[in-house]
Amino acid sequence: MNREKFYITTPIYYPSDKLHIGHTYCTVATDAMARYKRLKGCDVLFLTGTDEHGQKIEDKAREAGVSPQQFVDNIVEGPRGVLDLWKLMNISNDRFIRTTDDYHVHAIQKIFKKMYENGDIYKGTYKGKYCKPCESFWTESQLKDGKCPDCGREVQDAEEEAYFFRLSKYADRIQDLLENTDFLQPRSRVHEMVNNFIKPGLEDLCVSRTSFSWGVPVDFDPGHVVYVWIDALFNYTTALGFMNDKYDDYDNFWPADVHFVGKEIVRFHSIIWPAMLMSMGMPLPKHVFGHGWLLLDGGKMSKSKGNVVDPYVLAEQFGVDALRFFLLRTFPFGSDGNFSNEALINTINVDLANDLGNLLSRTTAMAGKYFGGTLPAGRRADALDDELVNMVSTLRDRYEEQMEQFAFQNALAEVFKVIARANKYIDETAPWVLAKDLQANGDRLAAVLYNLLETTRICGVLLTPFMPQSMDKLFAQLGACEGCRTWESAGVWGSLNPTVTVTKGENLFPRIDLDQALAQLEAAVAAAKGPAIELEPYTEEFVDFDTFCKSDLRVVKVKACDAVKKSKKLLRFTLDDGSGIDRQILSGIHAYYEPEELVGKTLVAILNLPPRKMMGLDSCGMLISAVHQENGEEKLHLLMVDDAIPAGAKLC
Ligand code: MSP
Repeated sequence: MNREKFYITTPIYYPSDKLHIGHTYCTVATDAMARYKRLKGCDVLFLTGTDEHGQKIEDKAREAGVSPQQFVDNIVEGPRGVLDLWKLMNISNDRFIRTTDDYHVHAIQKIFKKMYENGDIYKGTYKGKYCKPCESFWTESQLKDGKCPDCGREVQDAEEEAYFFRLSKYADRIQDLLENTDFLQPRSRVHEMVNNFIKPGLEDLCVSRTSFSWGVPVDFDPGHVVYVWIDALFNYTTALGFMNDKYDDYDNFWPADVHFVGKEIVRFHSIIWPAMLMSMGMPLPKHVFGHGWLLLDGGKMSKSKGNVVDPYVLAEQFGVDALRFFLLRTFPFGSDGNFSNEALINTINVDLANDLGNLLSRTTAMAGKYFGGTLPAGRRADALDDELVNMVSTLRDRYEEQMEQFAFQNALAEVFKVIARANKYIDETAPWVLAKDLQANGDRLAAVLYNLLETTRICGVLLTPFMPQSMDKLFAQLGACEGCRTWESAGVWGSLNPTVTVTKGENLFPRIDLDQALAQLEAAVAAAKGPAIELEPYTEEFVDFDTFCKSDLRVVKVKACDAVKKSKKLLRFTLDDGSGIDRQILSGIHAYYEPEELVGKTLVAILNLPPRKMMGLDSCGMLISAVHQENGEEKLHLLMVDDAIPAGAKLC
């Protein structure tokens, strides 16, 4: 029999830093969906990977003093890297692509050439704005308050010879695709794309760079590397064997059933990606689902803000399944959600320890206590059972309806409504009262316990995609045979053997003490970070007082500040030093400050250093800053003093 194919992908992650809980969210969701489809009998291909090219990686590698390849190898394959994290989180991906893999690189060259030959890629001059962290080009009109519309950071002017993709040619077809099909979900994202990007006019996209080399070389024009998003998006097809011999699954699995992607990269997946596929004459993916972000204190997590949550720490403290479950039970997949440790602990206590854990442990304990673990044959149903049995018998359909719409939270809510109903059923039927007269009530008691075991089993099957390891343990305690763990059996009440033998086992989800857990977590986070701040070693060498007094340290006010052309590091300051004549100082601190944020600031400078020429400009003195290392990264802060201190005031 031909099984239904299902091809699902996560975004391929950018290994510029270690992954955080936000990245883990999408991968766990994709994993749950892949496992659900496998449970239903589909032939699933689940792809994830890493997107390893681009200027940001090149820069980070240079700062770290290693080659870009060594840099990404360490984050992908190194300890506590991407591969380790997916193993820990029990991610069942069938394939892992790295965009530095040879087969992918060669395929991208062929793809680029094909679009060049068909006229959709042409050579021109790029003038515009570039956001380095996002690797995105923008036109002036697309900027938000002069900054990158995606991440809100500063953009830079850029002008160079470059290749362009005729995105504008596809505007009407893309608009039609978005508005008149269910290609992009949830629906709210369609309006965002059409109103913000298509209606203002789709411009051709710059698809090559010459200012750095860490990318796929354009083989017919040395010096150009392919824009990282083209390289990245086609991973979904090269990983199947498109334009390469490494794999042979393209005909079987393309088009993808769904790409799960975070909301800020929906633009790439719902506009640029289908346009390039159209240009290549390839079928389009069936769906793109743009999920929300996990926020921390209302803001996006990011390494640069220093507010990332480490999935290793959480999984190690609370268990992988509890963490997986929490992510999909708590946040509606299509919207943003606020992450907090308190919410995580609360969900574990309420849903897992209380509701599911209690249902399992009470039921197996009673079966052990009243029947030595094995239920006797011969049952008697009661009107009280009907509501529960009906609810459980139709659960699979309600769950399926939600899962097919990628509504994980709703699917889980259906399961937990049944679990709550089953706990209420225990109170209503009071098995401990029935057990007082086993002679008279033995059959009824066995029926009650069977109903509870059967309910727990069906819920267990449907929870398997979310908590695979824990559900295996649950089935072992229930005495559920292999055939009672299948999708088919979750739709059939009564699949569990009537004389089943249960085994009371470990408590699957122990209750967590909130205060104690939060304290442990704090310690674990600190330990995982290592010594956060490293200072320069203190010197034991003395400087005599007279020598110190020779340093002319003064308060200065920044009248103007601009970036020195052709220098990545230097800022040129025009300073009021109180003398009435402007002083110029150059400082290599562009990595830490944008020039406009410094204008008007009151700083400290040493003025009597001999003047130096830098990039052809005189620098007369040096601004004083404080430096330290934080988590291996150098941090610098200009010494800023009270604005009330006048320019020229001497430090002594
Ligand atoms: N490399 C690109 C994707 C290329 S796909 C052809 C990229 N990588 S990323 O590492 O920056 O982000 C990967 C995914 O993680 C994105 O979908 C992004 O939305 C998601 N998340 C990063 N932080 C997140 C949260 N705080 N919350 C939820 N998901 C977020 O983009």
